Formats: sequence, structure tokens, C-alpha cells
Amino acid sequence: MSKLIELKGISKSFDGERVLNHIDLYIRDKEFVTLLGPSGCGKTTTLRLIGGFETPDEGQILFDGVDITQLPPHRRQVNTVFQRYALFPHLNVYDNIAFALKMKKVPVEGTENTAAPKWRHLTRDEIDERVTRMLNMVSLRGFEKRNVTSLSGGQQQRVAIARSLVNEPRVLLLDEPLGALDLKLRKDMQKELKDIQKATNITFIYVTHDQEEALSMSDTVVVMQNGTIQQIGTPTDIYNEPKNAFVADFIGESNILDGTMPADRVVAFDGRTFPCVDGGFEKDEPVDVVIRPEDIDIVDPEKGMLCGTVASTTFKGVHYEYIVDVRGFKWMIQSTDYVEAGKVIGLSIDPDAFHIMHKSEFSGMFGDYSTYSDEMDELSDPNAGVEEEDDAEEATEEA
Ligand SMILES: Nc1ncnc2c1ncn2[C@@H]1O[C@H](COP(=O)(O)OP(=O)(O)OP(=O)(O)O)[C@@H](O)[C@H]1O
Ligand SMILES: [Mg+2]
Repeated sequence: MSKLIELKGISKSFDGERVLNHIDLYIRDKEFVTLLGPSGCGKTTTLRLIGGFETPDEGQILFDGVDITQLPPHRRQVNTVFQRYALFPHLNVYDNIAFALKMKKVPVEGTENTAAPKWRHLTRDEIDERVTRMLNMVSLRGFEKRNVTSLSGGQQQRVAIARSLVNEPRVLLLDEPLGALDLKLRKDMQKELKDIQKATNITFIYVTHDQEEALSMSDTVVVMQNGTIQQIGTPTDIYNEPKNAFVADFIGESNILDGTMPADRVVAFDGRTFPCVDGGFEKDEPVDVVIRPEDIDIVDPEKGMLCGTVASTTFKGVHYEYIVDVRGFKWMIQSTDYVEAGKVIGLSIDPDAFHIMHKSEFSGMFGDYSTYSDEMDELSDPNAGVEEEDDAEEATEEA
């Protein structure tokens, strides 16, 4: 797959405030790419630059190798679905989808490659064929005559997607398109969007701050923070090989410990060493050690590599989630085994469950679940009743 869009050294400021800082990114043809990051990190701004609704202060945007940095939106082969999609309220479903096609002009057959091609509108049959294909794709056959204002949020979102795809853009930009939908519908629509992308072969650039959504839909995930790209990779790369403590913390749950690498395939923390599979660090290099909660086995204390006391237990449906105090550091462990709070347990961790990262500007900012467990203590404290309501509110605000 070749590079379709390329952002080269893109920077953008608003009111003297830099919101994008030297962004370098390419997007391959037919790829499903997701920009993922916390609120305010610059996702929408990046999308608007690609769509042509903003111009960068520095840098270049290439499309198929051609500089489009200054090209207005309507001349780019890009369509956008916004979170607050504006359907035409006075038009029915069919006419909403057909709208852009009625405006569209195509070269008259036989004149395409001549010096002066002739242009014509699409015929009624051509429009009907394309709208019907779109209605099928978004499962809205039979809704043609319905007024869009009578549709549910999910159905309206489908109309918005069909409307933006009917023109067959090379690229579809989607800015949190499912944000307004409830969880169940969002999950269904995630799958549907992925299927539509596969069926149409259109490049999707998708924006979300929901890491699960990003991991389940994308070919490539771009993790952003504070106007910079922290990591670009496949969902499994991003999850299994986070580049730094920010990515490890933002994508899923992570215990992140302060350690060193005394040798290849040996990591030291908490005053002792553990076998691991990573290498290539300087001798005794300070590192961040990531261990995912699901990669820790609960064993008898005498068999454990580490020992700790269960501070809290939460039933999560598929597994239990434990906060475990190991010499003052609060670990999160997920396990299908049940253990009571207060019990001393052993922790067993396979060598390949340690993921070793170089130190970064994010070191020390994440990784300990102590605030989390305070909150859990508060929530599970039967005495935190009416008279202590003020305290509880403060604790929630702090968290
Ligand atoms: N037109 C604008 N004028 C001034 N500031 C802006 C403008 N557009 C965006 N910003 C600022 O730029 C920063 C990045 O905004 P952006 O909308 O790209 O974030 P985001 O990652 O999409 O966040 P969210 O998840 O909340 O939608 C924010 O601090 C925002 O306030
Ligand atoms: Mg946004």
C-alpha cells in the first residue's frame, strides 16, 4: 500500500498557543487510521488540516505526492463526518443521501481524455443505483421516504455516513462520529464502520479518545498527546510495545515500575532481579517496567516472586480486579480467581510479561494505583454515609 497522505513537519498555533508541534505522519491508501489521545491533544485540528479547513503555520500536506497544503476543502478528494452531523431536516433519507450526487458533474463518455471534456449531470438511474447501494451498505433499505428528524441517533448517523460516502471520496475523515451514541449502539456501529471501510476500500482517518474503539477498529493507531505524536503502530504494537509511560498508561491498564537493566534479559526493581525477554539497554540503565494487570498470576505467598496484600476487590463480570499493596506500591491485577480483600498473596510474572521502556518525560507520572485504591476504599466503605458526604464529594473531585 502506497502513501496516500503525508503530513510533513506540521505545526499549528492558535492565539500564540502551539497546538500541533512538528507532526510527521503518513497514511497509506485504503488504510483505517485512528488518531487517539486525550481531550485537547490536537486530533480535530489534525483532521481539519487534512480536510483543508485549516492551514498549517509550518509544514506541508501531500496527497498522492502532490502538495495540497493551500488547496481549499472542496478541491480535495476528502469528505468529513463530524460528531454533530448536519443532515438536511427538510429532506427525507433518500434525498439527504442523493443531495451531493445531484450537484455532481461527470465527463461525457468519450470526451474524458480530450482537451475540452464535456460535462453532464448524473442520470436519475445512476443516482438511484448509487443511493440504493449506500442504503444497503448502512442497513437503511426501506427508510428511503422517512423524514430524517424521525430517525434515532444511530440511524441518523448512518445517513450521515452514507451521505459522505456516496460521492466516493478517496478519504473519509471521521471526528468522533459515534460519540453521541450509547455504548451498545456504538459497539454495533464500530463493527459496521469497519465493514463499510473494507467493502468500499476508502481510506478512513478516524478520531477518538476511546482507546478500546481505536484498538478494535484500526489498522494503524496514532497516539497523540499535547500536540505531538507519541507512537504510531498497529493496535497490537501499541498495546504490547508501548514506547513510553504515557502510551502504556493511556492504552489499557498498566503497572509501571521504576527499574534498571543490570544485563540483557534481566530487569531489577523493588530491590531484586527478574528474568525478562528484553535487551539492548545500557548496563544498569534506568528504565520504566510495564506489567499489564492480566499478565500477573496470583499464587501462594511462598511461591510468589513478589508478595502483597489485597487492598480491594472489584467484580468486573469476566474477571476480578484487585489492587494489591506490594511494599507500598499499589499494583492492579486482573484474575478470574477470587481472593478476599486483606489476604496476603504471591505474584508470579512470566519473563515475557515484562515490557521494558526507556525513561521519558512521562516517567514517574503514571503507573501506581494508589489514588485509584483510595477511591475504591472510599466507595466500598460502608461508613462513608450521609454525614461524610462532603468528604466523599471532595475525594471524587480530586480523583
Ligand atoms: N479555532 C481555534 N481557536 C483557538 N483554539 C483552538 C481552535 N481550535 C482548537 N483550538 C485549541 O487547540 C487545542 C487542540 O484542540 P483539538 O480540537 O484539536 O483537540 P482534540 O484532540 O480534538 O480534543 P477533543 O478530544 O476534546 O475533541 C485545544 O487546546 C483547543 O482549545
Ligand atoms: Mg476533537
